[in-house]
Amino acid sequence: MSQAPKFFPVDEDLVHSIELWSRNRIINGPDPKNGARTASELEGDLGASITTGGIGGTEAFRRFTDVIVPAIRANDGAYNLAYVPAAPSAASVSIDLALSAAEIFAGAWEAGAGAIHAENQALKWLAELAGFPNGAGGTFVSGGTVGNLSALFTAREKAVRERGGKPADWKLAISENAHSSNHLAARVLGVDTVSIPVDERGRITRESLKAALGGETQVFAVLATAGSTNAGMIDDLEAIADYCEAEGVWMHVDGAYGIAGIVSPDVRPQFKGLERAHSFIVDPHKWLFAPYDCCALVYGDPAQARAANTQTAPYLELVDREVWNPSDFAIHLSRRARGLPLWFSLATYGTDRYADAVDQVIATTHAVADGIKKRDFLDLLFEPDLSVLLFRRVGWDLEQMTAWSERHRIDGTILCIPTFWSGVPVYRLCFVNPETKAEVVLEMLDTLQD
Ligand SMILES: Cc1ncc(COP(=O)(O)O)c(C=O)c1O
Repeated sequence: MSQAPKFFPVDEDLVHSIELWSRNRIINGPDPKNGARTASELEGDLGASITTGGIGGTEAFRRFTDVIVPAIRANDGAYNLAYVPAAPSAASVSIDLALSAAEIFAGAWEAGAGAIHAENQALKWLAELAGFPNGAGGTFVSGGTVGNLSALFTAREKAVRERGGKPADWKLAISENAHSSNHLAARVLGVDTVSIPVDERGRITRESLKAALGGETQVFAVLATAGSTNAGMIDDLEAIADYCEAEGVWMHVDGAYGIAGIVSPDVRPQFKGLERAHSFIVDPHKWLFAPYDCCALVYGDPAQARAANTQTAPYLELVDREVWNPSDFAIHLSRRARGLPLWFSLATYGTDRYADAVDQVIATTHAVADGIKKRDFLDLLFEPDLSVLLFRRVGWDLEQMTAWSERHRIDGTILCIPTFWSGVPVYRLCFVNPETKAEVVLEMLDTLQD
């Protein structure tokens, strides 16, 4: 019996071209010269793509390769050292292609069981490294922003349930150095914040915590940062755990970038106190070698997350709540199994390779820090806690700094852009890629002498 033509026909040649392009991108990496263009330039080059009759797959794909991709900054380039870049492993990106083709609904066990189980293995590995108790678990969400919001929402709901009052009566204790997503979460939750001062390296300390929170009775959670975005610093997690334990307050650790460090036995001791937190997040799309978009959200007691996040509706009545439904642990319902590429990468290379990769990044950071200290035209602000360096070009103002950054952005040699520290512009490097070579970075930094 001949098959009826599909409503959306398959063009096998096009599928093959897409596979081939993807294969080459995975093998060769990105072009570091690619970068943003203006919307009007893009409109000019993309032309009228969305038409009543369609432009056909071959032409649409040409626009993807020739117009769209060249206008995308390569976040996984080995010399993209701006913001928090990315360094997904070849295995993780490869399986991401198959993940899309498999079209998995991973919000509920009944639909996505196999993928969810694999994701849970990866979450369990992270929870164990963090020192969380047996039974800890959670889900993968799109990024640190949703992860932090979901954890803080869970904490606020618990406070209302167990300690009473209205949602808006509760406050989040947070430092100015915490990632902006946590300040946004407080606004979304409609709660006030109590500001915890920080030391000269931007960290919450035992003293600063006491100074800010002595006498506070309405704090529902303390937001701890393990790897600040701007400087890679870790708050005093033990002091925060002591406070939270004594006061019965939720401790959430935002380790979107930094908690990747727990993978290395050498780096792990810096996170002492994390094991006493109620929840943490880490973004595998930052420093755990997985593709966008992927944030691991882990709770010590997942029942708390279930109590806050489970959605109810007549059409969800028959969902089995005895099994692990990832939708119950965060602010989401439909979801892709975005933790699967991490699982696949771990399964492929082994956890030792992960530890080596993190150690390699730390070694590169220290080698570059040493090189900066040896150059009298540069001034390193601090020894790194993790893999972020802040340094000054002695005698330069912001305009000179940005001109140098822009020149190197355009020629694709290095992406290193200024940030501000205590109101002063400084250069910032963030390392996450084990392929980055310290000697190459230092060669580029030598051009700062000109
Ligand atoms: C410490 C920290 N928390 C949260 C986030 C937000 O993560 P995302 O961009 O994945 O939402 C970031 C992003 O850089 C971060 O560095």
